[in-house]
Amino acid sequence: MELTLNRLTKRYKDKTAVDSLSAALTPGLYGLLGANGAGKTTLMRMVCGILSPTSGNVALDGRDTVAMGESYRDLLGYLPQNFGYYPVFTAMDYLLYVAALKGLTKGAAKVRANELLETVSLQTVAKKKIRTFSGGMKQRLGIAQALLNDPKILVLDEPTAGLDPKERVRFRNLISGISKDKIVILSTHIVSDVEYIADAILVMKDGRLVHQGRPEEITASIAGRVWECRVGPEETGRLTARYTVSNLKHEGERDMLRIVSDGKPCESAVPVEPTLEDLYLYYFSSETDPGIPGEEGNR
Ligand SMILES: Nc1ncnc2c1ncn2[C@@H]1O[C@H](COP(=O)(O)OP(=O)(O)O)[C@@H](O)[C@H]1O
Ligand SMILES: [Mg+2]
Repeated sequence: MELTLNRLTKRYKDKTAVDSLSAALTPGLYGLLGANGAGKTTLMRMVCGILSPTSGNVALDGRDTVAMGESYRDLLGYLPQNFGYYPVFTAMDYLLYVAALKGLTKGAAKVRANELLETVSLQTVAKKKIRTFSGGMKQRLGIAQALLNDPKILVLDEPTAGLDPKERVRFRNLISGISKDKIVILSTHIVSDVEYIADAILVMKDGRLVHQGRPEEITASIAGRVWECRVGPEETGRLTARYTVSNLKHEGERDMLRIVSDGKPCESAVPVEPTLEDLYLYYFSSETDPGIPGEEGNR
C-alpha cells in the first residue's frame, strides 16, 4: 500500500497554504510537525478528500483517490482538529451513531464499538455521558470513532492538543499500538508527541515539506548546531537574549544552557547530540511561539 501526494497545492486567494507538496507514504506512523499556520490541517483535509486541491492529487497505489470515491473513503479514518462531540450522548451511543453513519450493520456496530471501547480503555465508562469526560477521554473516543471502519489510512489532526502530560503519554502508547499495517498521519506542534513513536517525521513550514526522514536522520541534519554552555548568571542573560535557548538549568553558581546556533555561541560551548526538539527550534524559533519550548516542562 502506498499513498502518494503529488505536487499537492492549496491556494486561498493570496495565501498558498500547501505548496506543491510531494511525498510517498507506506504503512507506518508519520509525525507531521509544524508551527501553527504551517498547513497541516489543509494538507490532512486534502488527504481525506474533504478539501479539493487547487492542483496536484492524492493517489493510492497509483489510483487517484477522488476517482476511487467511496472505495477510498472506506479505507479512511479521520480525527479532525477541534473535533465536536455530542455532550449528551454516552460513549457507546456515540460510537453506534457514527457506525450507522459509516454504514455498519447494527450487530457489527455493537461488536466493534465494544472492541474499540476496550482498545481505548473506555469500556468502564461506556454508558457515561461525554460531557463528563476529560480531554484525554474525549480524544480517545475520537480515536475509537475514527477506527470504526477498520481504516487502513488513519489521519489524526493534533490529537494531543489540550491533554495533560499523563494523558498525552497514554495517548501516545495507544497510537503506537494501533499503527501496525496502517498509514497513520499524526499532526502536532509538540515534538515529544512523535519523537519516539514515529517511523518518519515530516516537517512542514509555509506549506512545504522542509524535512522528512526517520527521527534520527532528521536530527542529524543539524548536527554540530546544538551546544551546551556552562556559564555564570551574567553571561546567561546575554546568551538568552541573543540565541535560541532550548533548555536552561541552574547548577549551583552556574547555569547550563542548551543553545541552538549555527556558530559556537560562547567560549565554553561544547557540541551535543541534537534532539528533534532542537531541530524544531532551529526551524521555527523565529516565529517565537512561547507555547513550544516550555510546553512539556524540562526534559
Ligand atoms: N479557509 C481558509 N481561508 C483562507 N486561509 C486559510 C483557510 N484555511 C487555512 N488558511 C490559511 O492557510 C494556512 C495554513 O492553515 P492550516 O492548514 O490550518 O495550518 P496548521 O493546521 O498547520 O495550523 C494559514 O495561514 C491559514 O491562515
Ligand atoms: Mg491545524
